[in-house]
Amino acid sequence: MTQLSDENLHWQAKAREVAEDVVRPLAAKYDVAQEYPWEIKDAIAEAGLFGVWIPEAYGGSGKHEWNIRNLVAVVEQLSRACGGVGVIFAVNALGSLPLIVGGTEEQKQHYLPQVAAGEKLIAFCLSEKTAGSDAQALKTRAVETGGGWRIHGEKKWTTNGGATDLYTVFAVTDPEEKSAARISAFIVEKDDPGFSIGKVEDKMGIRCTPVVETRFDGVEVDESRLLGGQTGKGFRHAMATLDMARPGVAAQGMGLAQGALELANRYTSQRNQFGQPVNRFQMVQQMLADMAMKTEAARQLIYAAAGAADSGNLAAVNQLAALAKCFATDVAMEVTTDAVQLFGGYGFMKDYPIEKYMRDAKITQIYEGTNQVQRMVIARNLAKEAESLGFLDEVIPAEDQDVYEG
Ligand code: CAA
Repeated sequence: MTQLSDENLHWQAKAREVAEDVVRPLAAKYDVAQEYPWEIKDAIAEAGLFGVWIPEAYGGSGKHEWNIRNLVAVVEQLSRACGGVGVIFAVNALGSLPLIVGGTEEQKQHYLPQVAAGEKLIAFCLSEKTAGSDAQALKTRAVETGGGWRIHGEKKWTTNGGATDLYTVFAVTDPEEKSAARISAFIVEKDDPGFSIGKVEDKMGIRCTPVVETRFDGVEVDESRLLGGQTGKGFRHAMATLDMARPGVAAQGMGLAQGALELANRYTSQRNQFGQPVNRFQMVQQMLADMAMKTEAARQLIYAAAGAADSGNLAAVNQLAALAKCFATDVAMEVTTDAVQLFGGYGFMKDYPIEKYMRDAKITQIYEGTNQVQRMVIARNLAKEAESLGFLDEVIPAEDQDVYEG
């Protein structure tokens, strides 16, 4: 029983082909070189995968208003072969979802078809050196110039930065405002004067994915670049975007877990010790069974979150996306670590891809909201839900309960 539609399965099959024919054979090369894999990006574009989350009305192939199951189906397959490639793909959804969530019709018509065709790559610039989990603390400033805006500031952890043509940038437009309404979003293009790439990070995993600092030294943009044509909506658009994008990070983690499980499953069926394949030993069987159980549970939770998004059940997405992101990426770390264990000494060596799965998995617990932030989101939703559970008061202890006095 799958929660995926025929449309989702079609794109999943296409992604699997690209993953096996192009991504897996090149994964080690780009991991070592720590370079953006343009030849893989071209194969992804040729297969039509960059348009799967974008509605047909804006040049994509998505049949619905929201197409997050298409996104997760593709990310899972690419990540099965290389976690870095999973994210170079998925970050385009993160960068373009603010347009889908809050762009004007003109902005959608102008930018989304270029992203869907794979002609332009797009990144997401929210985090700063002093504004990570506390995203509202961002300091990048956009000042009105009369007819446009001038942007000053610096962003941290811009994934795909340098490779991308377009950047969705969150900046303070109203510093006097105390609420999240002081933040707005802008589209910046790579050739805009004043835009530049700063520090390029040297990373533990997802090494084919550039992660950089981006600088905005008085970048001038006209009114058409203000997302949605309105100030004050940027933070809400960022949060709504993350709700839609987090199932994608979850799928990256789950794809890594699936890929590592397959490698470990095959290896333990071939490796002989004490006169038999090691998968005949109960301790190994238990590890494999736990890995399979956790990976499949993650998959079903991700499909549920993506399904809620696609059916427009936006009220449920915030919670389900956080549950899926947190669970699946914790599973990714556990399963890839156990897979390394099952490879024994070979697992620790760079001669084989299994150690890369473990390195690639770590970041999925950190970016697009740490798993501590996900638990905070989950707990906030539970606290709200508690308010509607008053009918249980009769059967729980109360402060003014009667005591038994004999
Ligand atoms: N959808 C829509 N609006 C939302 C929302 C949602 N899910 N969550 C909050 N909002 C709105 C609120 O309604 C509120 O609006 P009003 O002021 O109009 O009432 C406003 O946003 C502020 O809400 P909160 O007070 O709840 O916000 P907060 O400051 O307490 O922050 C948080 C909450 C969940 C911790 C948030 O800051 C967060 O998600 N932090 C993590 C950020 C993150 O994921 N960063 C990663 C960036 S991407 C990356 O990693 C790099 C990359 O390129 C891959």
